Amino acid sequence: MNIDGSTKIVGVFGWPVEHTASPRMHNVAFEALDLNWVYLPFEVKPDMLEPAVKAIIPLNIRGVNLTIPHKKDVIPFLDELSSEAQFIGTVNTIVKKGNKLIGYNTDGQGFMRALEENKISVLGKKVLILGAGGASFGISRELILKGADKLFVANRTLKRTEDLKKMLGEIEVLPLEKDSLKSVLKGADIVINTTSVGMKKDDRLLISENWLGPSIEAVVDIIYSPPETKLLRMARKKNIKTINGLDMLLHQGALSFELWTGKKAPIEVMRKALYKKFKTRK
Ligand SMILES: NC(=O)c1ccc[n+]([C@@H]2O[C@H](COP(=O)([O-])OP(=O)(O)OC[C@H]3O[C@@H](n4cnc5c(N)ncnc54)[C@H](OP(=O)(O)O)[C@@H]3O)[C@@H](O)[C@H]2O)c1
Repeated sequence: MNIDGSTKIVGVFGWPVEHTASPRMHNVAFEALDLNWVYLPFEVKPDMLEPAVKAIIPLNIRGVNLTIPHKKDVIPFLDELSSEAQFIGTVNTIVKKGNKLIGYNTDGQGFMRALEENKISVLGKKVLILGAGGASFGISRELILKGADKLFVANRTLKRTEDLKKMLGEIEVLPLEKDSLKSVLKGADIVINTTSVGMKKDDRLLISENWLGPSIEAVVDIIYSPPETKLLRMARKKNIKTINGLDMLLHQGALSFELWTGKKAPIEVMRKALYKKFKTRK
């Protein structure tokens, strides 16, 4: 990497930030396209978020990603929001355009690109989504836009599912409980876990093996660490197609890259770096 006086800077604001895979993924992409850009991790404590965001323009930083815990709190410091960011209520990408900061959220579209490259179409399908957090809002919106026939959203806290229903209209909300999940799973085509349940070794399974009937075409877990959650392992053992969160992570990052540089992201180079970081293969 040859940093010089013309190097353009992007990065990620997070706290903690040391586990992020994004610098590796973006820096190999800049190198592959011979772009004089660099992606840096910025450790930004919550009480330093406002001055950090306000520094983007004077320092001529071209844009940043936002990760935990800043995705929601950043909104008051931005000039404009994309329609996705407005709907989801969180921002994962800031782009500096002149003296303005525009907030985007690439999670929903990143998720759809991951499904498409895994040859899963949602058109006319019945989809069960576990979770109604920020990621679920973005994904649900895209699923409706892409023609899913029926969307069932189950969450521990019903208030969040009801908020989503108020905004999207066309979803059915249910509690994250055995009877309701079991009955929806009988005729579902696709199951998507958007909760954080599955990240820890001793996390329980939200659904049981015998609830996954023959109609299920794919089980998707947007968790990427570990790359194979208990849920995905269970589905794989039943010969159901599985997709983990790494492809969504890749594509949401590629969309940020494209927003900043205006160039098509070198997906395969980025994928290789990401999979290497997580010591796994596609
Ligand atoms: N692959 C990617 O690119 C990508 C992108 C974004 C997020 N993610 C992953 O997606 C997950 C959710 O992210 P987010 O931004 O949507 O977070 P969030 O807004 O905090 O939502 C968390 C979700 O998990 C549920 N949940 C948490 N603990 C639970 C428990 N013990 N039992 C049942 N439900 C529980 C929450 O339910 P309540 O509403 O009841 O609290 C909520 O639905 C995280 O694991 C994150 O790493 C992956």
